[in-house]
Amino acid sequence: MASAGLFEAALDHAHARGVLCGGIFQTSTIAVCPNSGVSASGCHSKLIVGGLALVGIGAAIGYFACKKASCCSSRVNTKIKLGEPKVADTVDLEDIGDKKAFCRCWKSEKFPYCDGSHGKHNKETGDNLGPLIVKKKE
Ligand code: FES
Repeated sequence: MASAGLFEAALDHAHARGVLCGGIFQTSTIAVCPNSGVSASGCHSKLIVGGLALVGIGAAIGYFACKKASCCSSRVNTKIKLGEPKVADTVDLEDIGDKKAFCRCWKSEKFPYCDGSHGKHNKETGDNLGPLIVKKKE
């Protein structure tokens, strides 16, 4: 039976020798891991524990790599006055003139004013950010 041969071949990597007979796996000798002397059940346990350890290590590496990367950060502000606990700006009404655009994307080099940097951000991310435009009534 072809599937029995595949099953047997799959088990041979861990067992010394086994025979599939009528769907029941029987060993003709004591099953041991090759080159180790460990019993088949002990060998499977070691394989499972080793596999789980590798998955855990991979998950930990992925988690810390993602946490370090700016793509996964929950920060909105990544460049404006980063050393301060809070960014607050005051603008006198007299300095606004007839109309002024204020940045809401936190990417402007002229913060708190908009310099158009939101356009690059929107193009790269598919976002839809834009400025707050303050103007005098006409
Ligand atoms: S640069 Fe930030 S909203 Fe325009």
